[in-house]
Amino acid sequence: MKQTIKGNVSWIGYMDWELKKFHGEEYTITEGSSQNAYLIEEEKTVLIDTVWTPHKNEFVDNLEKEVGLKNIDFIVMNHGEADHSGALPELMKHIPDTPIYCTANAVKSIEGQYGKNNWDLRVVKTGDSVDIGNGKKLIFVEMTMLHWPDSMATYMTGDAILFSNDAFGQHYAVGGLFNDTADQCKLEYEAMKYYANILAPFSTLVSKKITEIKALNLPIDMIATSHGAIWRDKPMWIIEKYAEWAEEYQEDQLTILYDSMWEGTAAIAREISRVAARVSPNTMVRMFNCSKSDLSEMMTEVFKSKAIAVGSPTISRDIMMGVSSTIRFMKSLKFKNKRAAAFGCYGWSGESVDILKRELADAGFQVTDTNIRSMWKPNDEDLESAEELVRALLG
Ligand SMILES: Cc1cc2nc3c(=O)[nH]c(=O)nc-3n(C[C@H](O)[C@H](O)[C@H](O)COP(=O)(O)O)c2cc1C
Ligand SMILES: [Fe+2]
Ligand SMILES: [Fe+2]
Repeated sequence: MKQTIKGNVSWIGYMDWELKKFHGEEYTITEGSSQNAYLIEEEKTVLIDTVWTPHKNEFVDNLEKEVGLKNIDFIVMNHGEADHSGALPELMKHIPDTPIYCTANAVKSIEGQYGKNNWDLRVVKTGDSVDIGNGKKLIFVEMTMLHWPDSMATYMTGDAILFSNDAFGQHYAVGGLFNDTADQCKLEYEAMKYYANILAPFSTLVSKKITEIKALNLPIDMIATSHGAIWRDKPMWIIEKYAEWAEEYQEDQLTILYDSMWEGTAAIAREISRVAARVSPNTMVRMFNCSKSDLSEMMTEVFKSKAIAVGSPTISRDIMMGVSSTIRFMKSLKFKNKRAAAFGCYGWSGESVDILKRELADAGFQVTDTNIRSMWKPNDEDLESAEELVRALLG
């Protein structure tokens, strides 16, 4: 069923209350998600994006019932990723001659995934526009690398809607569709989790793009994203948040990440958290066992932190797998301006702390000289040095 969002524009996406994972197993979803596609029915009938492949039949049936496939004048593909283009091949079986507006890079991603199909792919660049009648038009804005080379946003004049695709989205199923019908804490958390896990590596480009969008001076009354809530109440709020998040964002937070085989390294982790609460009482302290915690949520907490402490015992002259993959994930997200310290227990050769320091530096963290390295179990002196470590991180 389509649902009107404003004027002659409606939502015609897929609300997925059951989805638990995204991007394979990489991104965990706890509140459901949605793939938002939109239908514009002005003098021209325009479809903006589609849904993921498993929902293609329902999507195409729905479009047929709501508007009639033959009545679609053209399609806008803001992004070629399968969650938005997956239903396109099925749709095009019915209307193979319908023009599809997309970026030059989207021609590559669409043909790369679905083959050359002789579809009428019409390449657009930033500033290009197309009339949709009733005095309105669609203006295209390339969003290169936000988050794929092919990404684009589409602005509709008159109703002043920015169809932003993945940018400003969240994996959060909001039955009421709009941000003012969502749980506000969850909405902000899910938007931040999405930014931290998907957009953070491109923060420099996010800053530039926001400056560019603001310079266009287009009124924005609504931001219709491709996942989660549509921003209709104070839509500029999420743009301002992105501007903040893109500038080496941090809160007064310390996140402790560790793993442990026989509790020694865990004991150091707990001491660090206790000392942090004492010496820096306003700091939010979070702690995660890397192998038992959700990777996407840990990334969100690290994104918010000004410092992290990372611990692993030595195992086979190396660090534990859960810690290793956590550091590797943090590296890929290119967090900036965050301090890090290492700690861990060992029995004989004791490589873990040096490995942690090296890998954290390689992941872009400012690694403190202070660390805690305990033979077998932390002794009183080791535990007392937690204060020095915390001061080096938070001071
Ligand atoms: C499978 C295994 C492999 C280990 N390999 C090493 C090693 O290569 N070098 C070393 O110094 N200690 C090694 N250890 C000893 C641990 O680092 C030591 O027991 C440490 O105190 C464990 O810390 P935890 O209590 O945080 O698990 C190994 C222990 C286990 C169980
Ligand atoms: Fe995407
Ligand atoms: Fe997406």
